[in-house]
Amino acid sequence: MSTPDPSDLLDLALATAREAGDLIVRLRAEGVEVAATKSSGTDIVTLADQASEHLVKERLLGARPDDGMLGEEGDDLRGTSGVVWIVDPIDGTVNYLYGLPHFAVSIAAEVDGEVVAGVVVAPALGLEYAASRGGGATCNGVAIATRPVVPLGERLVGTGFSYEQEARTREAAYLGMLMPHIRDIRRLGSCALDICAVASGLLDAYVEEGPHVWDHAAAGLVCAEAGGTLEVARSPVGKRLLICAPAKGYDDFRAAVVEAGFVGGGG
Ligand code: IPD
Ligand code: CA
Ligand code: CA
Repeated sequence: MSTPDPSDLLDLALATAREAGDLIVRLRAEGVEVAATKSSGTDIVTLADQASEHLVKERLLGARPDDGMLGEEGDDLRGTSGVVWIVDPIDGTVNYLYGLPHFAVSIAAEVDGEVVAGVVVAPALGLEYAASRGGGATCNGVAIATRPVVPLGERLVGTGFSYEQEARTREAAYLGMLMPHIRDIRRLGSCALDICAVASGLLDAYVEEGPHVWDHAAAGLVCAEAGGTLEVARSPVGKRLLICAPAKGYDDFRAAVVEAGFVGGGG
C-alpha cells in the first residue's frame, strides 16, 4: 500500500474538524448536559463529545476505510493501512459545559507511529491551527512561529490540572515552586490550545502532568513545525508530563520545571 501524502491527510482532517466544530457549536446552543463522569466527578463527558467523535469517525473512515482510529470517547480501531487517526472530539469539555470559548476539536494522523498531519479547530474562538510534517504550521492559513525567547522571569506559562484530587494537589505544589521564577501562569482549560498558543507565540511555555495522547498529538506537530519543542517526560509518580516551549528557550524552562519538582527520576 502506498504511503499517503500528509497534505491529503491534513485536508481531510481540517474538513472533518470544521464539520465537528460546527456540530458542537450547534449542540451547545441547544443546551449541554453532563452525560457521564469518568476518572472523577469533575471528569465529564457530554452527548456532544460523543456526537463529535461519532461524526469524526464517520468522515475519516468513510473516506479511508482501512485506517485505524483512537478516540478519547472509546474508539480504538486498528486498521490495516498504517494510518491511525488520534482524536479528541472536544478538548476543553469543562469550558464547553460552562459556555467558555476555549474548546477545540483535535485530529492527528499518524503514519507508522509518527504524526504527519494535525489540526486543532476552536470554533468559538475562530481559530484553526494546522500542520503537516515538513510543511510548516498555520493558524487560519497564516504561518505561525513561537515567541522570541525572554528571560525566565518574563515568561507566561500555560498549565493544567488533573481531574483527580490527589494528583491536582501534588500538581499545585509543583506549580507553587515554579511561580516565583516566571511572569505568571494561565489555566485556559484545553491542552491542545495551550500547546498551539506556544506554537503561535501567545504563551512562552506550557507544562502539565497527566494529558493523554489525544490531547497533544495534533498540537505537538503544530508546535514542532512552528519552532517549538514538546517533550513527553515522566512526573515523580510516573505519569506523563508534557513540557513545551520554543526550541531555543527549551532547556532553561525544562531546568526550572525540574527544579520545581515536576519531573521524576532525577529529570
Ligand atoms: C482536558 C483539557 C484540560 C487538561 C486536561 C485534559 P478534556 O481535556 O485539555 O485543559 O488540563 O488534562 O484532560 O477532558 O477537556 O478533553
Ligand atoms: Ca482532552
Ligand atoms: Ca475530550
